[in-house]
Amino acid sequence: MSKEAKDSTVVVRPARTIAGALRLPGDKSISHRYAMLAAIAEGTTRLENFSTGADCASTLSCLTTLGVEVERNENAVLIRGRGPKLQPPKMSLDCGNSGSTMRMLSGILAGQGFASKLGGDESLSRRPMARIIAPLEQMGAKIVSADEGRPPLRITGTHLKGIDYKMPVASAQVKSALLFAGLFAEGETRVEEPVRTRDHGELALRAFGAEVSLHGNQARIAGGQKLHAIEAEIPGDLSSAAFFLCAAALFPGSRLLISGLLMNPTRARLLDILILMGVGISVAELEDRHGELVGAVEVDGRDLRGATIANADTAALIDEIPVLAAIAPFTSTGIEVRDARELRVKESDRIASIVTNLRAMGAEVEELEDGLKIPGGQTLHGAEIDSFGDHRIAMAFAVAALRAEGETTIHRADAAVISCPGFFSALEALSQRPV
Ligand code: S3P
Repeated sequence: MSKEAKDSTVVVRPARTIAGALRLPGDKSISHRYAMLAAIAEGTTRLENFSTGADCASTLSCLTTLGVEVERNENAVLIRGRGPKLQPPKMSLDCGNSGSTMRMLSGILAGQGFASKLGGDESLSRRPMARIIAPLEQMGAKIVSADEGRPPLRITGTHLKGIDYKMPVASAQVKSALLFAGLFAEGETRVEEPVRTRDHGELALRAFGAEVSLHGNQARIAGGQKLHAIEAEIPGDLSSAAFFLCAAALFPGSRLLISGLLMNPTRARLLDILILMGVGISVAELEDRHGELVGAVEVDGRDLRGATIANADTAALIDEIPVLAAIAPFTSTGIEVRDARELRVKESDRIASIVTNLRAMGAEVEELEDGLKIPGGQTLHGAEIDSFGDHRIAMAFAVAALRAEGETTIHRADAAVISCPGFFSALEALSQRPV
């Protein structure tokens, strides 16, 4: 399938089916959180199968700038915790493309006795930060942003006080940022979300020894708790797996096994949706690792039906919508996505990126302010695709290209390194070609 050229263009050829087995590097959401908590824990944390993506490398490099000793040997990372006090940084913290790094680290920096500055690349500089600035300021921190709540941010940390906060937007990054800040606050911090989002922050805090209690959609943490180092093997990234699972779902008769995969119920909605769409899925070898569910998933491709994704499902599937949208034309009844305004403020405006690329491949698609309507039963042709510098768009259209007629060229395909380096060669290895 893929010829990777210098300008990071990848050419994807149609496939006949998907077959094989793989294991994936560690989940990005968990890798960020474990690294940050390890930095403020007592003792040395050893993380195996740490995410290989550039986003988590941004987190590690920010932690190094904050005086944390980090040793990395391929996918194994050793982090020598400093306890609650980080070192004042001598330079600005570069979060790269990573919204998770900027938002969650801000929660920790808000409680430090020094000022710090956080910046990132062009895409990150457009992303909304008011959602963390407002509550962290309520807790006592002072945060100055460049342009109406956009990065760079200058955070003056202080002794925080606990707040009772109702989040206006469903965001696990914001929830985690506030719970992390809560560790440094006087009294209790309460964070309520409008719909339940991924709970890796809560589970990670518990894994490192903190008490977090849950009351419906509200999480509570008491300030002043000490964290203790852990040893962990991070489960495979379910959002990266989504591209391979959807590729397999495209071809009746495909068979794909992904072992050691994250199965956390707040992340695994994709499996339910694929089952509703007619895909055969079985899960085995379930185990618990520091509160995170892990398992082996086997996909068995069948004829694909369509689906509607709305309300709480949209929040639960937020990172998987690009790839579901990319396979939607090949379903019998199409896919409708609603309540997905958040997609407009991701690494790219994902609604616009999906619409542009689906149309380039000849698909009919209706753009909605908060989503998309993509009819089923369509034939797509190979085309020139732009990733818009967005990892999930690059990978989603590589998957659509497998069922298109003719070759597809994906420009700026190197964006995939943000969450899944090696994606194109892994997809190539699983793709069976027409003879
Ligand atoms: C993430 C939460 C989601 C998701 C992002 C990772 C996390 O973002 O899109 O890729 O690890 O908490 P929001 O918190 O902005 O919804």
